[in-house]
Amino acid sequence: ILTRLKHECATPLSLLQQVAANMSADMRAGLGLGLGPGPGPGPGGLPMIPSFVENLPTGNERGLFYALDLGGTNFRVLRVQLGGKDERVIATDFDQVSIPQHLMLSTSQELFDFIASGLAKFASKEDGRFHISPGRKREIGFTFSFPVKQTSIDSGLLIKWTKGFAVSGTPGRDVVACLNEAMERQQIDMRVSALVNDTVATLAGAEYWDNDVVVAVILGTGTNACYVEQISAIPKLHGHVSSSGKMIISTEWGAFSNGLPLTEFDRAMDAASINPGEQIFEKTISGMYLGEIVRRVLLKMAEEGGLFGKSILQNLSTPFILGTPDLCAMQQDCSGDLHAVGSLLYDKAQVESNLSERKTVIEVCETILKRGGSLAGAGIVGILQKMEEEQRGRIFGNGNRSVVAIDGGLYENYPQYRAHLHDSVKELLGAEKSKNVVIEHTKDGSGIGAALLAASNSLYPHGL
Ligand code: BG6
Ligand code: GLC
Repeated sequence: ILTRLKHECATPLSLLQQVAANMSADMRAGLGLGLGPGPGPGPGGLPMIPSFVENLPTGNERGLFYALDLGGTNFRVLRVQLGGKDERVIATDFDQVSIPQHLMLSTSQELFDFIASGLAKFASKEDGRFHISPGRKREIGFTFSFPVKQTSIDSGLLIKWTKGFAVSGTPGRDVVACLNEAMERQQIDMRVSALVNDTVATLAGAEYWDNDVVVAVILGTGTNACYVEQISAIPKLHGHVSSSGKMIISTEWGAFSNGLPLTEFDRAMDAASINPGEQIFEKTISGMYLGEIVRRVLLKMAEEGGLFGKSILQNLSTPFILGTPDLCAMQQDCSGDLHAVGSLLYDKAQVESNLSERKTVIEVCETILKRGGSLAGAGIVGILQKMEEEQRGRIFGNGNRSVVAIDGGLYENYPQYRAHLHDSVKELLGAEKSKNVVIEHTKDGSGIGAALLAASNSLYPHGL
């Protein structure tokens, strides 16, 4: 089983090159397809969602702004006092809670009431470091980390849920209207001035400090990437006029599937998921799924190959009993007898293991992890190559710097994953081009990013 797994998950350079090329091709196809309603562009193209963000922060943004960030795991609320060119960020404050499991399967009203009450509680604690001119409404940048068909910078219809969410009543609705209704119910008098995907907020937040940032990637519970596209290369916007000639596009690359090396374990996990046939790239490379793929492999090895001897397999048969943080913890075990691996397998799955079995477990983890990190790297190269086609020399040209800003728990906390991603990017680009590409971790840039975009789209453009 292990030999076959390694073979099927292998990511030789030729395969990675093909994946990168397919990513560029699916981006192009997605940019040309209609903006009509429905779940996505259909076979062959990525959603490629226009964000209506046409100008990145300038540094001149001033005033008090709030940001709400509904991710896959956490809900965050933040406020920031922006001080313009000289002072930049004068003060920030934030609150974070994990999203209760039951809300992921609740009703739209319950979910948005949870968001609004978190906002109300946080807003009531605003202290003297923050100030706003009398009569001015507090404005919000709303980071909503799901695919939304944007209709403007401050409105958009939820296309579908991802990352295990199945909240009823939201798909097809304007998520800003849902939030406004919940704010009204709780008598919160604030205005959403920007609705953004987490990748878009991350790009804006990272670009505020480093003007060379051109791509942002989230590798956490789910995964996605956005980048700065030329308006002329977005036929589906039908001649939309942009002051900058550019727009950030959220690729929703989680939906990509073209040419991926998949196994029976991936197919079975997908079939059992709440969105079968969807988000295949996300299910292959992101944090929500890596542990579950490994669990499925180990279960088959135990049932058919006698791994873990006579252990009872009831717990190992439970979906999602192994999380990606567990894989990470096992791969950090440097002890001679892999003691931590043994304890973790026992604590989580109630299986006994000897040293050779623990080594096998590590090999399975490494196989799934290497495939994930390498494919994520190929996806990034696919985006850079697509950008280079449009802007010859801007991305890889001599002396240029093209920065890819990455955030998310998977990238941040799993060093082996990071290493595979970086190796894959380097291998694909080669030494010359690699010199111009910088991959940076930007921690929590999305909060400030959303606040900055709220400021750029403020009702009060002249600051205070
Ligand atoms: C955070 C970003 O750091 O990463 C969020 O600020 C993003 O905007 C999140 O949604 C994704 O990571 P995870 O691990 O919570 O899915
Ligand atoms: C999922 C969402 C996407 C988001 C990503 C990272 O793929 O569909 O919108 O950006 O997760 O959080």
